Amino acid sequence: MYHPKGPTFLELMQQALSSTTKGYDLLASKFDYTPFRTPDALLDRIAPHLGAPGSVARALDVCCGTGAGMRVLRPIARDLVVGADFSRGMMEEASTHVPSWEGAAKVAFVQADARALPFRRAFGLATCFGANGHIPVTDEQAFLRSVAQSLEMGGRFVFLSARMPPVWSRSYLVSRGFNAVMHARNLVLKPPFVMFYLTFLLPEVKRQLEVEGFEVEIREGLFEPPFSAAILVVATRVR
Ligand SMILES: C[S@@+](CC[C@H](N)C(=O)[O-])C[C@H]1O[C@@H](n2cnc3c(N)ncnc32)[C@H](O)[C@@H]1O
Repeated sequence: MYHPKGPTFLELMQQALSSTTKGYDLLASKFDYTPFRTPDALLDRIAPHLGAPGSVARALDVCCGTGAGMRVLRPIARDLVVGADFSRGMMEEASTHVPSWEGAAKVAFVQADARALPFRRAFGLATCFGANGHIPVTDEQAFLRSVAQSLEMGGRFVFLSARMPPVWSRSYLVSRGFNAVMHARNLVLKPPFVMFYLTFLLPEVKRQLEVEGFEVEIREGLFEPPFSAAILVVATRVR
């Protein structure tokens, strides 16, 4: 589907019919050929906002997948870049890309749920790309708390958000339609596959971050089409 080396429609259906973790394990070897991987062009545009080369000792990419975000984090970290994900298969795929990433920081992978990361005040920078929709709405606060606890005081959490599109827009209707199908699927089939659009949106996410001790900066208008709706959130842990 989409790319000759990407998954077939049937394989994507198999992914959606299993759990989120198992689904990504199944998709791992073909994930880089799907539109679900955060594009390098977008990450390269974000990179200057993450910090100067060598400006933090350790950096963390939450829900790292096959390592798209870790590539841009590595030059910013002096000592260590950690990728955390609950899919072992995705991290195995990411590890094959490490030799092609710039920078000299060590690279490590930790299998963990983003809502309960096993780190305490360990990182100067954390990112999360392409995974907002995998956090159930009821777990959003736990996820943000888990990231906050992983950061040193003064550490930053950087991710992409957006504003709610107008209710008559195509993107709103398609997203709501997709979400309805996922809710129906999860009512009928267990374990659930958690993937929903229109989550972690502004301005709500700013308030949610503030509850977890972040000071929040919103950087709008940074991206060209087709990413122009994306808004960069830079949240600094202040307490
Ligand atoms: C769409 S991929 C994005 C991967 C990568 N960050 C990127 O931008 O290309 C989502 C990733 O999030 C991981 N994931 C989803 N929910 C998770 C959770 N609760 N804890 C840890 N990883 C999770 C999946 O295993 C998958 O690797």
